Amino acid sequence: MEKINAIITGVGGYVPDYVLTNDEISRMVDTNDEWIMTRIGVKERRILNEEGLGTSYMARKAAKQLMRKTQSTPDSIDAVIVATTTPDYHFPSTASILCDKLGLKNAFAFDLQAACSGFLYALEMAASMICSGRHKKVIIVGGDKMSSMVNYSDRATCPIFGDGAAAFMVEASTEDFGIMDSILRTDGKGLPFLHMKAGGSVCPPSYFSIDNKMHYIYQEGRTVFKYAVSNMSDVTAAIAEKNHLDKSNIDWIVPHQANLRIIDAVASRLEVPLEKVMINIERYGNTSAGTLPLCVWDFEKKLKKGDNLIFTAFGAGFTWGAVYVKWAYDGDKVAVE
Ligand code: UT7
Repeated sequence: MEKINAIITGVGGYVPDYVLTNDEISRMVDTNDEWIMTRIGVKERRILNEEGLGTSYMARKAAKQLMRKTQSTPDSIDAVIVATTTPDYHFPSTASILCDKLGLKNAFAFDLQAACSGFLYALEMAASMICSGRHKKVIIVGGDKMSSMVNYSDRATCPIFGDGAAAFMVEASTEDFGIMDSILRTDGKGLPFLHMKAGGSVCPPSYFSIDNKMHYIYQEGRTVFKYAVSNMSDVTAAIAEKNHLDKSNIDWIVPHQANLRIIDAVASRLEVPLEKVMINIERYGNTSAGTLPLCVWDFEKKLKKGDNLIFTAFGAGFTWGAVYVKWAYDGDKVAVE
């Protein structure tokens, strides 16, 4: 029997219209464009500011575009995975809401929570489901409405984050392309450095938790930065070595967009020039699980069949890893939307 591979056959994306600039942030907190650009690398970010809309709204826009681009019928989808830390509700899952909005009748759907590494883990999950032979067509979405948990009076976090979502179609193929390999890691000792203090089962919402601003992102930036640089660089180098990849045959690095200085460090460790690194942090900021697919959405036209891509991310948990993908289609042949 021929080996089944999990190939990516399309990408769809969505970012909200509202542009939150560094100038506007500078009017909210004591900061300025120069600090944000040199320390983080973000010029502007998109914000979903219409009342009553959550992550599933952006996921739906991205997935609908994906289904149009890949000419997929609702009945052909076997499963949906939504990687997010900002679900519409604690329950039911954002994936189940998305399933309904897309009119999927034959799919099962669930959310995956691995913070900023969520989409990386979703790639691995989809690949395992397809390579098992049990599922043929899986939609994976990475998306977050980070503005729903950002404290816009905390200058250490509010310039970093933005809202957005994007999606991949992952399908079975006997061609020698697709999600080839992964190294994924988790270390729960990261908890104190990056978390939300209340709202979960340990500390349910209360007047106390609201009065004490415990429903926002808490981050000890310097510590997270240090772990992000070393873990992302090490794991990217490890997956490259394992798959005989180096600067001569890596076509693209697709890094999580948390900080331009982290991206630079990962690229220089592999001696890969920045022209081969997907970077859009200056326009969207850190959209958490959204960054990796939003990068591919932006750079799709430049991708060629057979290109070697290494995806890498680091996030709360700590969670991190790298996934090696051999791209399966020419991006410039995709019909313009
Ligand atoms: O996506 C999940 C994973 N997350 C990450 O990968 C984020 C990793 N961390 C980072 O990207 C960086 O640590 C930050 C961008 C969060 C912070 O940058 P930093 O260079 O590590 O700054 P810092 O926290 O060490 O602060 C340096 C100084 C401090 O002032 P003092 O104590 O030296 O006087 C801060 O108070 O910069 C000050 N500062 C600011 N100044 C102007 C912090 N935020 C700002 C600001 N504007 N927005």
